[in-house]
Amino acid sequence: MVIGGGGREHTLAWQVSQSPQVEKVFVAPGNAGTALIAENLDILPTDTKTLGKVAQDKGIELVVIGPEVPLASGIVDYFDSLGIPVFGPTKAAAKIESSKVFARKLMEKYHIPCPKGKVFSSYVEARTYLEHQQLPIVVKADGLAAGKGVIIASSMQEAVKALDDIMKARIFGSAGDKVIIDEYLSGREVSLIAFTDGKIVSPMLPACDYKRIWDNNQGANTGGMGSYSPPIFFPAELIEKATKAILLPAIRAMANEGVTYKGVLYAGLMCTDEELLVLEFNCRFGDPETQAVLPLLKTDFVDILLAVIQGNLDQVKIEWSAGACVGVVMASAGYPGSYKKGLPIKGLNEVDKDLLIFHAGTRLGDNGIVYTNGGRVLSLAGAGKDMAEAREKVYSNIPRIYFEGCHYRKDIALREIA
Ligand code: AMP
Ligand code: GLY
Repeated sequence: MVIGGGGREHTLAWQVSQSPQVEKVFVAPGNAGTALIAENLDILPTDTKTLGKVAQDKGIELVVIGPEVPLASGIVDYFDSLGIPVFGPTKAAAKIESSKVFARKLMEKYHIPCPKGKVFSSYVEARTYLEHQQLPIVVKADGLAAGKGVIIASSMQEAVKALDDIMKARIFGSAGDKVIIDEYLSGREVSLIAFTDGKIVSPMLPACDYKRIWDNNQGANTGGMGSYSPPIFFPAELIEKATKAILLPAIRAMANEGVTYKGVLYAGLMCTDEELLVLEFNCRFGDPETQAVLPLLKTDFVDILLAVIQGNLDQVKIEWSAGACVGVVMASAGYPGSYKKGLPIKGLNEVDKDLLIFHAGTRLGDNGIVYTNGGRVLSLAGAGKDMAEAREKVYSNIPRIYFEGCHYRKDIALREIA
């Protein structure tokens, strides 16, 4: 049973369904895409008790959690208490994402490279500190804020507004009890996501995420408009360096604090000219990185998930394809602002057989028609022997799919081939 309903979860469900060990997949709540390969269950990812009961009733043998919110509230602890194998970190381990202050203190204590910053729980002290800082400056809410809790301010006015919004207006509720004010770093960002059983870490191929809505990184921030893997600028030596200096030390630091970290550890890294620094840790698969990374996995995904849960990840040889993958999101008109739902999607069956269509905000109508049901509607992924072939695969297919007002970025992975 895969928990969640976005493009990431469709990808997870697709991967588990490829395993010869798997008889049947359920997704809660899923979308029109998961309905093609699994049975959707109309249960919210946060409805832990109902999920647990349904898992027991249906004799589910493996649960995989997609989103951070149920992880942060302890869904893994609950499935553990029911004796149902579950992939993901416990509530205590998920704190590495659910509290940026916790993660920052951990990094500082264990010398894991991160930006220079300061933690505040007093608005007045944060405000006074802010006034003596150089611009741009980064203001971060401590808790989960659906990806909106980090503000990069290029003027003092913007920085003060961010602080006011978080700590006074409390737009993210108790997630804004504390803030971190960070130095601004520039460089190239990469997501390095690893499987870990609490003892060893096995990094997946690195990936890059495109957050802005328009080409050339213009416009508003989104949940991610596309991704590709692997970036040339992050070769095997850097993966190795990040594993030794960041991923392993983080797992060991957690263990030293009394917490076994199992599941996926996602390091959002900034590569400056001199060093690799951690901008954030997440306790789950990335979205949309997963849509570009997992198509390159050659090993039985379920073998990896079970080895993580059982604590014997060293027994599984994880292999990746030597090629590349590009994932492009088709979004609704208006996204990331307000947008219409319920528009029919055409052409889903008119694409090449080897193009991967991962659904995000879609709904299957009783008439068999697929309708839009969110801002990010589809994630199309093309894999190839290299980035140029992967791009060609995805971009030659996109025009065959249509819904009113649909738009997508044309420059995903372009820098890799230009
Ligand atoms: P986070 O949730 O901490 O990863 O922040 C979200 C995004 O904000 C990151 O992916 C970066 O693009 C950006 N960011 C966070 N911290 C910094 C920083 N110290 N300097 C520059 N950009 C940052
Ligand atoms: N792609 C960013 C994230 O999953 O947090």
